[in-house]
Amino acid sequence: MRKISVIGAGYLGAVHAAVLASEGHEVTAVDTDAARVSGLSACDPPFYEPGLAQLLTQVLRTGRLRFTTNVEEVAACDVHFICVGTPQRHGALAAETSYLFGAATALAGVMHPESLVVGKSTVPVGTAARLASILQETLERPVRLMWNPEFLREGFAIHDTRHPDRLVYGVAEGGAEEDVALLDEVYGAQLDNGVVRLVMDWATAELVKVAANSFLATKISFINAMAEICEAVGGDVVKLADAIGRDDRIGQRFLSSGLGFGGGCLPKDIRAFRARAEELGTAHTLDFLAAVDDVNTRRRARVVELALKACGGALEGRRVAVLGAAFKPESDDIRDSPALDVAQQVRRLGAHVAVHDPKAAASAKAVAPELSYADSVVGACAGADVVLHLTEWQEYLRLDPSDLVRLVRRPNVIDARNRLDAARWRAAGWNYQALGRPSA
Ligand code: UDX
Repeated sequence: MRKISVIGAGYLGAVHAAVLASEGHEVTAVDTDAARVSGLSACDPPFYEPGLAQLLTQVLRTGRLRFTTNVEEVAACDVHFICVGTPQRHGALAAETSYLFGAATALAGVMHPESLVVGKSTVPVGTAARLASILQETLERPVRLMWNPEFLREGFAIHDTRHPDRLVYGVAEGGAEEDVALLDEVYGAQLDNGVVRLVMDWATAELVKVAANSFLATKISFINAMAEICEAVGGDVVKLADAIGRDDRIGQRFLSSGLGFGGGCLPKDIRAFRARAEELGTAHTLDFLAAVDDVNTRRRARVVELALKACGGALEGRRVAVLGAAFKPESDDIRDSPALDVAQQVRRLGAHVAVHDPKAAASAKAVAPELSYADSVVGACAGADVVLHLTEWQEYLRLDPSDLVRLVRRPNVIDARNRLDAARWRAAGWNYQALGRPSA
């Protein structure tokens, strides 16, 4: 078992640290945010991730995991994972890498020169090489650096960390066998489970992550573009997706049409990838990602249009119930949330908007205080002229439309995730409308 540091204790870092500690390693996780560090140390993560609070409770008790703001506490570690965020740069498409370089510089000041640095953050291709030269300058010797992208999904972060589809190891030119062997030791539990490990150069490893996320975003926008076509001809995109997905080469997953993608990864990754391609002189190669982004944004506009139509062409003074604020279920993350965006657009058109979300109401309120927030679905729907189903929480899929219909002023529901039981809602008297599906 190894002494490991994790720099950056967000979704990625906190889960990575807790899982490695649960597998027997001694882990110190560092974050500059004191509130986050004290929350995690008290088994109270500042974000909702199923199972994380319980895992922290188990692991912190063993003494193998601690959270700190003091980077000097990682001086004796053999392996340092860099897990800091690389959000979209303000007012630009590119990723903000300053936190990453700041963290690396702080680490270089305290780490043992023989220890291994492993980058996990999602970065513009070429970052590992830049990082290596920065570390080398500070340490005055070549540094041991690997790139090991992370593919976890929010809501499934612990499962995905324990059972990744693959481990990607980006190694320095010439490939350092002892670095690969050391990372194998760290990932002993995953390798024992039979996960495939793919070794490649730094640049390819960096690209694997952005290419994977770009492919996923493209798959979602493809089916949402088909939804637009279905809307034009009266077709049914859900049946279409089922039919094309039965071809193994296409596959059923990530073909759920609806309001599109959001969150802290897919939107900013496709934009940062375009920005990086432009820097590399190959901007046109990724032109299609601009179209992917556009299709995604148009789905939001479509829901607003349907809400307007349901309210007779004007939203001024209407009551709109919004079910869901998180960018997807099982998360309280509202970064680039399609649901919250639609709620705000509808509000700007003069509607009174009551939002319900089982987990994300507090984070939504912090960025969108102009909206009203209800503690229950009933509270959000009371007196509504239209109900918008924007994030497909299980709780909403189990709603009884016959109960709900008695609460609203007009029985209009727009299922922007195509997940409610259309026949049941219609039978209960609702004017049910989905995206890319016939209206009756
Ligand atoms: C994604 C990648 O899946 C993960 O591998 C990477 O590490 C980080 O980015 P995440 O952002 O947690 O993970 O969410 P994911 O479950 O992939 O969903 C992304 C978005 O796409 C959500 O807004 C979701 O609602 C939407 N989506 C997903 C669809 O609209 N349709 C689908 O069929 C699938």
